[in-house]
Amino acid sequence: SDASRPWGDLVGRTVVVTAGGTREPIDAVRYLGNRSSGMQGFALAEAARERGAEVTVIAANVTLPLGEGIARVDVSTADELSRAVESLAPTADAVVMAAAVADYRPQSVAASKLKKDGSAGMTLELVQTPDILAGLVAARPPSQVVVGFAAETGDDAGSVLQHGAAKARRKGADLLVVNEVGGGRGFGTADNTVTILDSTGARVGEATGSKLGVAHAVLDRIVERLPSE
Ligand code: CTP
Ligand code: CA
Repeated sequence: SDASRPWGDLVGRTVVVTAGGTREPIDAVRYLGNRSSGMQGFALAEAARERGAEVTVIAANVTLPLGEGIARVDVSTADELSRAVESLAPTADAVVMAAAVADYRPQSVAASKLKKDGSAGMTLELVQTPDILAGLVAARPPSQVVVGFAAETGDDAGSVLQHGAAKARRKGADLLVVNEVGGGRGFGTADNTVTILDSTGARVGEATGSKLGVAHAVLDRIVERLPSE
C-alpha cells in the first residue's frame, strides 16, 4: 500500500457499494445472469473501509468473503437490489453502483421447471427492470456523490470511450467509471483498467492494475467531491 495516501480521508463518511451481478429467475431452476464476479465492488468496499468510511455492501450473488468491519446485505434480483439501495442510500455520503444490474427480467416466472414443448425455438418475454442509478441521481440528497460503472465494448457505433462519454452525460451521475470488457478483460480477472469520467463526459482520472488500486483511484475522485465537514 501507498504510504503517501491520505488514509483516514473517509472517516465520518458513509459509503454504500453495490457489487456482483443480479439474477432474474426464469423458472424454478433457471435465471438470466451475467459474469460479474463482485471483485471490483468488494475492492471498493475494502478500500473505503481502509480509508475510514462506514461501509455497507449490497452484494448480488457474490461468493467472495468480505473484510471485517464491513456490513453486507445479500440480494439476488434487480428488484431486491433496488429495494436495498432505496433503504440505504438516503443516509449515504457516497453511493457506488458497481453491480451489473440486469436491464430486463422475464415477464413471468414459472413456478416449476419449464419443459421443452417440441418446437425448435422458444421466446422469452422480458420487461425492463428499474434503472436504479437513474433513481439515485433523481433522489440524491444535496452533496451526495453518486458513481456509476459502465462495462463497454467498442463496436461500429463507437469506441469504448465514446460510448462511455455519451453514457456519462445521459446518466448524470457525478462519476462514471468506464472499463472495457470482452476478450477476457474486466470480468473475473484480478486486474482492471478504467477511465473515470465526470457527468459532462470529461476524463477526470484513469487507473490500471489491481482492483484495489483501481478502487483507491475511484475513491480519490469521490473524496475531492465530498463537501468539507
Ligand atoms: N444500472 C442500474 N440499474 C439498471 C441498470 C444499470 O442502476 N437497471 C447501473 C449500473 O449499476 C451501472 C450503471 O447503471 O452503475 C451503468 O450500467 P450500464 O449497463 O452500463 O448502463 P445502461 O443504462 O443499462 O446502458 P446499456 O444499454 O449500455 O446496458
Ligand atoms: Ca445495462
